[in-house]
Amino acid sequence: MMQCDFSASLPDGQARAAWLRSELNRHGHAYYVLDNPSIPDAEYDKLFSELQALEAAHPALITVDSPTHRVGGPPLPQFAQVTHSVPMLSLNNGFEEGDILAFDRRVKDGLQADQVNYAIDLKFDGLAINLRYENGVFVQAATRGDGATGEDVTANIRTIRSIPLRLRGTKVPTLIDVRGEVLMFKSDFSTLNARQRELGQKEFANPRNAAAGSLRQLDSRITAQRTLRFFSYGIGALEGSDLPESHSALLDWYADLGLPVCNERTVVKGADGLLHYFRNIGQSRMQLPYEIDGVVYKVNRFVEQKTLGFVSRAPRFALAHKFPAEEALTTVQDIEVQVGRTGAITPVARLAPVFVGGVTVTNATLHNEDEVARKDIRIGDTVIVRRAGDVIPEVVSFVPEQRPSDARKFLMPVSCPVCGSPIVKLEEEAIARCSGGWIKCPAQRKGGVMHFASRRALDIEGLGEQLIEQLVDKHAITTAADLYKLGFTSLAALERMANKSAQNVLDALEKSKATTLARFIYGLGIRHVGESTAKALAHHFGNLDALLVANEEQLLAVADVGPVVAHSIRQFFLDPLNVELVAQLRAAGLHWIEGPQRAPEIKPHSGKTFVLTGTLPTLTRDAAVEMIEAAGAKVAGSVSKKTSYVVAGEDAGSKLLKAQELGVAIIDEAGLLQLLRES
Ligand code: IVH
Repeated sequence: MMQCDFSASLPDGQARAAWLRSELNRHGHAYYVLDNPSIPDAEYDKLFSELQALEAAHPALITVDSPTHRVGGPPLPQFAQVTHSVPMLSLNNGFEEGDILAFDRRVKDGLQADQVNYAIDLKFDGLAINLRYENGVFVQAATRGDGATGEDVTANIRTIRSIPLRLRGTKVPTLIDVRGEVLMFKSDFSTLNARQRELGQKEFANPRNAAAGSLRQLDSRITAQRTLRFFSYGIGALEGSDLPESHSALLDWYADLGLPVCNERTVVKGADGLLHYFRNIGQSRMQLPYEIDGVVYKVNRFVEQKTLGFVSRAPRFALAHKFPAEEALTTVQDIEVQVGRTGAITPVARLAPVFVGGVTVTNATLHNEDEVARKDIRIGDTVIVRRAGDVIPEVVSFVPEQRPSDARKFLMPVSCPVCGSPIVKLEEEAIARCSGGWIKCPAQRKGGVMHFASRRALDIEGLGEQLIEQLVDKHAITTAADLYKLGFTSLAALERMANKSAQNVLDALEKSKATTLARFIYGLGIRHVGESTAKALAHHFGNLDALLVANEEQLLAVADVGPVVAHSIRQFFLDPLNVELVAQLRAAGLHWIEGPQRAPEIKPHSGKTFVLTGTLPTLTRDAAVEMIEAAGAKVAGSVSKKTSYVVAGEDAGSKLLKAQELGVAIIDEAGLLQLLRES
């Protein structure tokens, strides 16, 4: 039991307060820096409240590094100026392979070396900050400013939980300027914007702006409500300790001192090592919890850095390798519509070609008619186009100053541009659709077959968009079932189709015949039946025949199925053409292991819905989903009143807020495991 006797005499209280501070710092470090909590939150809160109460009863016990001082203080009239004792420089940028090879060449020439070791850090998209520690105690933080003078943001920085107020370990210098980046994680950014929306306040454009806006608050109590993070990557002044011999050793030392450093850091050899790392991180950057705009290469050994020195305001020993810009300006030459698998009509902006996010973009989706109206995008406009990672390019907004007087508004066509059938818009839907169905509309036929062949459905390798277009246009196929009737000669006769590729497609088709019931159901492309509903249906009915004849009431018994979905499934199987399609596919040899119809009531959690948010301490998302589904419950993507539990992990986002708002039960990983175990 915790001791809470505040009447204790001052010396006793002093020892207790010191102990509490060191415990809180230790647990805070495990939680905020190592991402590895060492005690339950409630225990931490108890220790915290005890220290708060002790300090309130005996103000003499308060120290500058007390963890209770992270809540922000009264607003400042303005930020004081801070002169950096060692200037904060900027970096030269490189974009292409040639820039990196030239950098490596210059470095090797400068050092007269055949090969150089480089330390690589991520280039965080935040704000550079200098943290000053005297005898291990955090005393001041300043922004980079113009490099020579910055602004004193000490009160704000104090609210960042991962920044230690006291350095740890035995090798604490008498004075050190730690440099690094303050940033906001993507999940914290969405939580913040959700809150801004609720409060009717302006949303932030991106995590960087949100971090900047939060740090430049004169009222640090506002900063305290925003979750900011910090990664260390450099050093300014240092006294009372030797500088480690390399950048990588410096960051290892920082980690020992309890400062946050990024785990993606590494050391590589030569330009090959740099480019290899760059390619890899380029592919995985979307999975990072924060945004980066490139990576930073630094000659690892400090003596070598010194030899190379600086040109004007940037070091010769370092280079920022930037990712291609993700936003660019271009003009809208036209707005046309595309017809999807379900007949959905999507307006698409035809753009003057523009290089963005590493590719040339000529089309960008405008989603639907309402979206075009909301963003007020017109033909002739200059627009901002965004392409992040593999995401489809999007038109963000138009530039009002550059709107020509003859800019034309988009008008939704009344008939399908592909098959001429009328376009209809149901009242409850935002989307307009071609009413032709796949019988009349080749665009829907192509979409349907493409969906059937896609990776998460029948996964027919090598059967891409262009091939399917040709097959449909040449009337070689009408439905997915016709794919299995294709012969070698008809395939090999297609454009850009070598004999070898034709054989590969036939092999892939053959291979796809052995599938699962869930993939098959999903591949049929029934409206409103996504992958998880397909899985739920397969699981519930066990075999296809039971599903074919299920009425809406029976369908509603499936965990994932509501009235709209049940109706859509029933309508699908009432259509003789669809029944025929299923029969033909089975006749072509598609097969899966059928099971008996399972009784849902044996599952302890059937009917319950879970929502996962944030990172769980031990379970991966997939593992958690599997366990929940195995218990008969389903996992949904968003929180509603119907949600049974929200399982929240580290960095839980807006879903957690929503759950709190709706009063939905919130559990952590331990709670989830207990729940599943109990059942
Ligand atoms: S090192 C002398 N490392 O990039 C080199 N900078 O253009 C000093 N940045 O203002 C900077 N991540 O805001 C360094 N891992 C990293 C970085 C990084 C982001 C920013 C920093 C600086 C700018 C330099």
